[in-house]
Amino acid sequence: MENILILAKRRGFVNQSSEIYGGFESCYDYGFLGTELKNNIKKQWWKDMVQLRDNIVGIDSSILMSPKVWQASGHLTAGFADPLVECKSCHRRFRKDYLKENKCPECGGELTKERKFNLMMKTFVGPVEDDSTLTYLRGETCQGIYMNYEFIKDTMRLKIPFGIAQIGKAFRNEITPRYFVFKMREFEQMEMQYFVHPKETDKWFNYWKKERMKWYLDLGIKKEHLRFREHKKDELAHYAKRAVDIEYKFPWGWDEIEGIHNRGDWDLSNHSKHSGKDLSYFDEETKEKFIPHIIETSAGADRSFLVFLIDAYKEVEGGRTKTTKATKEKEIVLRLDKRLAPIKVAVLPLVRNKPKIVKKAKEVLNLIKPYFMAQYDETGSIGRRYRRQDEIGTPYCITIDFDTLKDNTVTARDRDTMKQERIKVDSLINYLFDNLGYL
Ligand code: GAP
Repeated sequence: MENILILAKRRGFVNQSSEIYGGFESCYDYGFLGTELKNNIKKQWWKDMVQLRDNIVGIDSSILMSPKVWQASGHLTAGFADPLVECKSCHRRFRKDYLKENKCPECGGELTKERKFNLMMKTFVGPVEDDSTLTYLRGETCQGIYMNYEFIKDTMRLKIPFGIAQIGKAFRNEITPRYFVFKMREFEQMEMQYFVHPKETDKWFNYWKKERMKWYLDLGIKKEHLRFREHKKDELAHYAKRAVDIEYKFPWGWDEIEGIHNRGDWDLSNHSKHSGKDLSYFDEETKEKFIPHIIETSAGADRSFLVFLIDAYKEVEGGRTKTTKATKEKEIVLRLDKRLAPIKVAVLPLVRNKPKIVKKAKEVLNLIKPYFMAQYDETGSIGRRYRRQDEIGTPYCITIDFDTLKDNTVTARDRDTMKQERIKVDSLINYLFDNLGYL
């Protein structure tokens, strides 16, 4: 984990928020490569959950909503609260269920009795700060989906079963944020709500459980690093009738990356009751009227980012390349699925002091750029430059050399096999599409 944090910082994947002021605990910023990787994860999720499906559409709802939403959803009561204890000596606060002993882990002091601490992040909307302007940053993105349930169903002429998906920020005043981007106070969720007939909840729950596990496996996460964990009755969230987590084997142990929840009619019933608007569904064929039940798939974009990074990270002792002295050192390779790699192609002129080679390399770069995220690098030996790309997971390096000027061919080097192929510049884009796919 330590080495992954070093790589993430050194290569500009992730930075501590407000770092020049000493950092802002529990918040992180993504640099260029981090943003690309996270965007590619979100793109693949959207493709799999929306683009390739016939009955799921996507939305983008606002982060700020009426506080009535959160009253109705149960998030302002004990359901969305964690057990908090405070040290009577140093006044530090902890999540009770994370503590191994009944003493303060910092100073050994005595702890207060446990109380429930609500996780909703408060804010005021407008120029006055009082109870009438108090609202909350959303604690889960799906409430925005429920607010738009009828609007989307009617405008998109959807029939049950159907889904609404959304990717967006959520906020929780976590007592103990930890493990880098794993548990933050501001994070991103990729959520899909599937509206089903009440009699079909088990069928769809099992379907989505399998589908979601398949998504991680298809994007290259090792099977032995993933598992399901069913929630016990006493740990179910206030809205859930049943919940299964997809867990990953992190360096600190098995932990949650995604939850599949049977939310029953909790959300639409409560919003119907509190808003006075009937949110029941009328089936034209069977003439049946009912409140749809919801099967939810709720993944964290940041946790997925961390999982893809950890699972792809490989250190090769003694180096993979044996041809030059420098490569005897330990090499890092990020074996990311090609669809997720932040940079798809690196363009490398063999030497940088030959203007004709540099000019040709820039032409090749401009040829690739409209189709794939590409990067130009001319500094250091070619071996160093390959390794610089390997450690950020770039699937292909294209080298322009003296032969290029003679026969208009380039060398394409594959990150994983390290095989080099000579390709005609005229067929380079087709070669890249064949190997990288249409993204
Ligand atoms: N709508 C249901 C829901 O929000 P959850 O299990 O509380 O369920 C779903 O959260 C996912 O959101 C988690 O599996 C995790 O990936 C992500 N998540 C939750 N809290 C987080 C935090 N503090 N930091 C980063 N990701 C978080």
